[in-house]
Amino acid sequence: MPQQGPNHRSSPLKCPVSLEDVDLFSPGAQEHWYEAYPILHAEAPVLRIPGEGPTPGSDGYILSKYEDIAMVVRDPVRFPSGLTTALQRMAASEIPPEQQPHTNAMMLSMFTLRPTDELYRSHRQELTDPWVGPGATRHTDMIRDHADALIDRWIDGDQVEFIGEFARPLPQRVMATVLGFPLKDIPQLARWGEAQVRGFVHGRGHRNELTEEQLDEQFRELDGFKEYVEDIIQEKRQRPGDDMISWLCDVEYEALGRKLTDLEINGIVYAMIIGGLETTQYAIEEQAQLLCEHPGLFQALKADRSKIRGFCEEALRLRSPTQGLSSRTTTRDEVFHGVQVPAGSLLHLRWAAGNVDPDEWDCPYDLDIERKAVTRHLAFSQGPRVCPGAGISRQEQLIAWNCLLDRLDDIEYAPGNTFEHQPGIMLGTLELHLKFSRAG
Ligand code: HEM
Repeated sequence: MPQQGPNHRSSPLKCPVSLEDVDLFSPGAQEHWYEAYPILHAEAPVLRIPGEGPTPGSDGYILSKYEDIAMVVRDPVRFPSGLTTALQRMAASEIPPEQQPHTNAMMLSMFTLRPTDELYRSHRQELTDPWVGPGATRHTDMIRDHADALIDRWIDGDQVEFIGEFARPLPQRVMATVLGFPLKDIPQLARWGEAQVRGFVHGRGHRNELTEEQLDEQFRELDGFKEYVEDIIQEKRQRPGDDMISWLCDVEYEALGRKLTDLEINGIVYAMIIGGLETTQYAIEEQAQLLCEHPGLFQALKADRSKIRGFCEEALRLRSPTQGLSSRTTTRDEVFHGVQVPAGSLLHLRWAAGNVDPDEWDCPYDLDIERKAVTRHLAFSQGPRVCPGAGISRQEQLIAWNCLLDRLDDIEYAPGNTFEHQPGIMLGTLELHLKFSRAG
């Protein structure tokens, strides 16, 4: 059965016991997500959200079954991504893309570098995979050095606020190093990172919508980021280093037979920051919680490091950082689990619910680090749009736990945890106090 989190009563919402109580999006919904999923699976695997579609009069639908979500993400023609439709709108407009309101460098770079599914694939293979994709093993030592340096800062005590002292700064340092940003700029980069993901945290409803005023403010703040990246690009063009931005300044994008413009590089950097920070933070932080909740597991991993990979994947399945995204639309009338979904509807893909679907997973709420083929989980999505940063995130998790297992003998919850989750669509607590014993 789903685990009842220690903070279960802190939500203003009632813990759902029937379908009419299920609310995945109102403030406090985070505390009951894992009680809502079995209800959705049993009673409404396809749940209509009336009036919440992409156009007036259309609806949104929450998909919670593994089979449905996996099918949708594997067919980008039948179920195009919201970004694809946004790019089509951009192309159809009489206003030039760069003058369209609330258009950031990422969207502009997508417009020129990957407007089609084919170019989307080339973009990933040629431009991001070498740095953040599955084969990007060049970062192993760098990640280990950052993990060890962070542990050095608190290893002489017996207690740590694990998010502020490890789970958050590790991906910040790793992504800054990969991109070629000076580490001293991390505090400012973190503020821009927060501005980028503001919709996912403070946005309204399943579409994570910000108000016009909030959007204006967000774009004003992120102008600073764009200028900062412009300056770094100039610097890297003069004095290249061994980093992704320097490489992007020079690489020939074979799919288009040309080099990249500064604006395009700026857009790729934007995508790396928006995707690369908090997601991995939450993964590592939830893994720490699972270790506290499963006595003996820390020692089992310490004794057999080959089990860390299965543990990390199983944690991603069981506590998916990105719980769901309203990111696909239907191009024709569909039927999912007997429910008619008309063309032009918006699909909210609930990755986290698919990851505990009892029709796909035996004992779905158990942490089973030996689970067969666990990497088929949906935490990073699947198919042609699968998360481009899954490779580096997996490496960060693996190396983080190897270093922590080297340096510590055990961890447990320290007193004072509220386990309060941050608002929005991501699963992550705001802070996490751990007691630890240092390895002898
Ligand atoms: C545990 C960590 C992470 C999780 C759970 C995660 C999850 C996801 C999910 C579910 C999507 C949506 C895919 C779809 O619509 O089918 C996505 C997209 C994306 N992710 Fe991640 N992600 C993680 C780490 C990262 C990292 C480290 C980076 C960058 C280095 C990154 C960059 C992106 C980008 C740029 C996209 C948008 C799609 C694109 O531009 O191609 N993510 N991620």
